[in-house]
Amino acid sequence: MTISGTPAVRITELGKTYPGATNPALSGVSLTVGTGEIVVLLGLSGSGKSTLLRHLNGLETPTSGSVESLGTDVSTVTGRGLRELRGRIGFIFQQFELVGPLTVLENVLTGSLATLRGPRVGLWAYPRALREKALGHLDRVGLLERAYQRADKLSGGQQQRVAIARALMQDPELLLADEPVASLDPESSSQVMGLIREIAAERDLTVVCSLHQVDLALGWGDRIIGLRSGEVVLDTPTEGLTKDQVMEIYGRVAVSTTELTAIETELAEVRDQLLSEEMRKAARERNEQDFADEGPA
Ligand SMILES: Nc1ncnc2c1ncn2[C@@H]1O[C@H](COP(=O)(O)OP(=O)(O)OP(=O)(O)O)[C@@H](O)[C@H]1O
Ligand SMILES: [Mg+2]
Repeated sequence: MTISGTPAVRITELGKTYPGATNPALSGVSLTVGTGEIVVLLGLSGSGKSTLLRHLNGLETPTSGSVESLGTDVSTVTGRGLRELRGRIGFIFQQFELVGPLTVLENVLTGSLATLRGPRVGLWAYPRALREKALGHLDRVGLLERAYQRADKLSGGQQQRVAIARALMQDPELLLADEPVASLDPESSSQVMGLIREIAAERDLTVVCSLHQVDLALGWGDRIIGLRSGEVVLDTPTEGLTKDQVMEIYGRVAVSTTELTAIETELAEVRDQLLSEEMRKAARERNEQDFADEGPA
C-alpha cells in the first residue's frame, strides 16, 4: 500500500436530506481517504453507508458541503466530465447486478462499455483486445473456465467474482463496494473480500467498502469509519484493535434505540440458532439414549 499525493476522496461537511425526508441521511460528514487506502464504512442498516458511497461517484448530489473524488468536485461536474470520472471509479454491488442470461465473458465485457461508442450485442461486437483483457481478468478472479457459461448458472460467490472482473475492465483508480458480501455465505465472503484486497494491492487501488459485520471489517480494512444515523462516530486504523474493542465499537456505532433494537434482533437470531442447535443435539442424544435403553430386541 502506498498512500501519497492528492487524496482519492475528500469530503467536507457533507449533508444529505432526501426530498420529503424529515431526518438527514448524512450530516456533517468530513473525511479524507488517501490514495491506496483500504477503508471500511461500518454501520447498521440505515446509517447512511450507501448514501455516502453514492455521493463518491455522483449518483447522489449533496444537500450541503462538498465531495471530491480523484481530484474532481463531484457535486459540480456534469455531462462528459461526470462520465469520465465515473469511468475511473469501479462499483461493486451487494446483488452483483449481472445480466443473468448473458455469458460470464459478456458480463465482464460490459465493464468496458464506457470506453466504446454505441451498443454492443454479443461477444464478437467487442474488439479482440478487449475480449483478451476480459479473459485475463476472469483468469485473475479464478473463473476463466466459466467464461462461456451463463452468468446466472454460477454461485453467488462466483457471480461476485465476475462483478469484480467487470469492474476491473474500467482500470479503476477508486473501487467502491456496497456490502459486497452481504448475500454470501461466510466462506464465499472471505474469498471475495480476500480477492478484493489482493487486487487492490496489485493495482494500488483505493477501496471504500461498506460492511455491517464488525469481524469482517476488522480483519480486512486498514481503517474503519463508523457511521451512525448519518454521522461519523468512529474513524480509526484497524491495526492493533482488539476483539474486546469490537464490542465497544458496536456500542459507539449504535446508540439510538432503533439501532440497539437492530443489534438485539441480530443477537437474538444468533442465540436462537445456537439454541436450536443445542436442542437438536440434546434430542439426538436422548434418542440415542432411548435406543440404548431399549437394548437388543
Ligand atoms: N432514495 C431515497 N429516498 C429517501 N430516503 C432514502 C433514500 N435512500 C436512502 N434513504 C434513507 O436514508 C437513510 C440512509 O440510508 P442508506 O441506504 O444510505 O443506509 P445504509 O447504511 O446503506 O443501510 P443498509 O445497510 O440497509 O443498506 C435511511 O434512513 C434511508 O431510509
Ligand atoms: Mg446500503
